[in-house]
Amino acid sequence: MVLRDIQCQETLFARAESLFKRISQDNEVLKTFQFHSFRVMHFSIKLAKAIGCYDEDLKVAALLHDIGKIGISKKILLKPGKLDDLEYQIIQAHSTIGNNIVRTILEMPKAAVYVRDHHERWDGRGYPRGLKANEISLQGRIIGICDAFDTMTIDRRNYHVCPITYDEALQELKSCAWTQFDGSLVNEFEQIIDHLRLPLPGKWEEDLEQINALFADKEENRI
Ligand SMILES: [Fe+2]
Ligand SMILES: [Fe+2]
Repeated sequence: MVLRDIQCQETLFARAESLFKRISQDNEVLKTFQFHSFRVMHFSIKLAKAIGCYDEDLKVAALLHDIGKIGISKKILLKPGKLDDLEYQIIQAHSTIGNNIVRTILEMPKAAVYVRDHHERWDGRGYPRGLKANEISLQGRIIGICDAFDTMTIDRRNYHVCPITYDEALQELKSCAWTQFDGSLVNEFEQIIDHLRLPLPGKWEEDLEQINALFADKEENRI
C-alpha cells in the first residue's frame, strides 16, 4: 500500500471519529455511544478478519453503526425500561439516518449499506427493510452479532438489568442462530471469543486516555 493510500485511510477514519462530536447532542450521549461503538468495531474487525472480509468500509461502518442515534433526544435514548411504539419507531430510524450520514458525509456507499443492515435479521423480521438471510450484507450481519454481544455484556439499559458474562452472551447468540443471526457467523464468533477481552467496563469511564490510546487507529496492527 502506498503512503498516500495510508494517509487517505487515516483521514477517513479520523473523519469518521469526528462525526461523533459533530452530531452528538450531549456529552453523556456521546460517551455512551463512543464506547459502545469502539467495542463493536473491535469485535467486528476480529470477526471479519477471521472470515477474510476485513476492510476499511467494515471498520468505519462498525464504528458508525449507531451514528444515526446520537442526535435523538436523550429522554428516548437513555430511557430506562420499555419504549412506547412512537419511541421505538424513532429509535428504529437510526439505521436509515446512519446510512444517509455515511453515504453523504463520508461518501462511503458500501459502509453506508453495512450501517443500514445492522438490525436486519436472518429470518427477515428485522429493520429497516426486512431483508432475509444472504440479502443482508455479510458485513451488516457481522456488525449485528457484535452489536448484540456488546449490548448484552455491557449496555445495561437496552438488554438486561445486569450485564451477562461473555459465555452467557455466547449462549444467547447461539439460541438466536438462524432466526436473528447468521448461524455460521455465530459459530465463527465462538472461535474468536477468547481473543475479545477488553478492559473492564468501569475502566471505560475512569481512564479515557487509556481507552483512546487502545483504539488510536492501530487496531489492525494489534489484531
Ligand atoms: Fe443500532
Ligand atoms: Fe449498537
